[in-house]
Amino acid sequence: MKFEEFSLAEAPKIKGDLPGIKSKMILKRQREIEGSALSYPLGLPIVMEEGRGATVKDVDGNVFIDFFAGAGVLALGHCNPIILEAVKKQQNKITHTLDFPTEIRLELIENLRKIMPGTLKDSVKVQFGGPTGSDAVESAIKLAKYNTGRHALIAFEGGYHGMTATACSLTSGKFWKEKYLPMISEVHFIPYAYCYRCSLGKTRENCEFECAAFYEHVLEDPHSGVVQPAAAIIEPIQGEGGSIVPPDEYIKRISEISRSYNVPIIFDEIQAGFCRTGEIFSFQHAKASPDIITLSKALGGGFPLSAIAYREDLDVWGKAAHIGTFRGNVTAMAAGVASIQFFIEHNINNHVNEVGSYILNELKTLEISSNIVGDVRGKGLMLGVEFVENKETKKPATEIAARVREESFIRGILLEIGGHYNNVARFLPPLIITKELAGIGVQIFEEAVNKVEKDIH
Ligand SMILES: Cc1ncc(COP(=O)(O)O)c(C=O)c1O
Repeated sequence: MKFEEFSLAEAPKIKGDLPGIKSKMILKRQREIEGSALSYPLGLPIVMEEGRGATVKDVDGNVFIDFFAGAGVLALGHCNPIILEAVKKQQNKITHTLDFPTEIRLELIENLRKIMPGTLKDSVKVQFGGPTGSDAVESAIKLAKYNTGRHALIAFEGGYHGMTATACSLTSGKFWKEKYLPMISEVHFIPYAYCYRCSLGKTRENCEFECAAFYEHVLEDPHSGVVQPAAAIIEPIQGEGGSIVPPDEYIKRISEISRSYNVPIIFDEIQAGFCRTGEIFSFQHAKASPDIITLSKALGGGFPLSAIAYREDLDVWGKAAHIGTFRGNVTAMAAGVASIQFFIEHNINNHVNEVGSYILNELKTLEISSNIVGDVRGKGLMLGVEFVENKETKKPATEIAARVREESFIRGILLEIGGHYNNVARFLPPLIITKELAGIGVQIFEEAVNKVEKDIH
């Protein structure tokens, strides 16, 4: 099957004002009966009825290009027939097995071991967690604590690791933490190489990776105030923080510093893993090596699943140290096996690199021509456009980003926003999006940006 056959051919097709009549009613009812901690439908008021590849149809018959992919979960697109086939086959056999072994469970572990790079290949241990990425983070930290007997933790500015208590403590966004006190104690944040807004006031020209050096200083100086940590957790390419790609050297140094101070390093690959950035794992760009890797989102081929993969010598935690009812989602495991085979058979990394650099180049042209686009960046199909009020001062333009999302939406593009100031439009399409469809979507996004720019000037 060719990639264009996965998506709805008519996308985008918008029939009138959005949301349409039926969508409006359902959105209203949701607000009435569901808890008020909702988030996505507030920015993208869509009621999805059908998803195909990189396209979505709503209940009013409008068809959208999906640059969001269920927050990066749907790497192989909505309702990928090959994944669905594997799912149906599994669901006709058995669907829930806790952590009892099944053939498909072991097949997934074997597949994961095969796609690991370097010394991790065929040697990592895999531990499944509850169905969300946050639980993989919880278990990664727990494993590091078992190994080190320590409790302090290192995290990085701009990092997002989830909403359970430990994961939220490691997440840098203050919004989630202010009303959720107390956070777990002893989490220390180190600057990330967010070079567009360097927290140390450096530029690429005069930078000597002072951000990484600061991490070393914290570990080395007996008066840094930070006790020897149990682990450091980092996204090798940041997702929710605004599609931030640090220089490879930064990630390499952070992992080397960790190693030399005997601090287990956890690479959070929940969003950037599984070919999203044009490598199976995003840490491979920097040729860095992790101790523990957190996995979720694309791991289950669109179905809920999480796991950690770690060096086998770290496997010290013993019976029932991390349990959970739903850590045996065999449906997701079958989908995961089919996904990994699909990634390999279709050489998805090549496709991602080709379509990703095409989108990036198009957006770079926009960066030059537009007064509200401050920075365009990304790797593979994890791209971001950072909006500013002024290109000199780089004042973050939160409102402008929200308006671009809205103007894109009414033209048939689903796009979410992230970043430190909620001012980054994030491109996270299914990896099977074709260059042609991506091109149509980017052109519409550019129209939306130009419209917003015209309206405000
Ligand atoms: C890098 C990263 N880690 C952890 C998480 C948390 O995953 P979940 O929302 O499935 O708990 C996310 C979610 O977006 C993520 O992007």
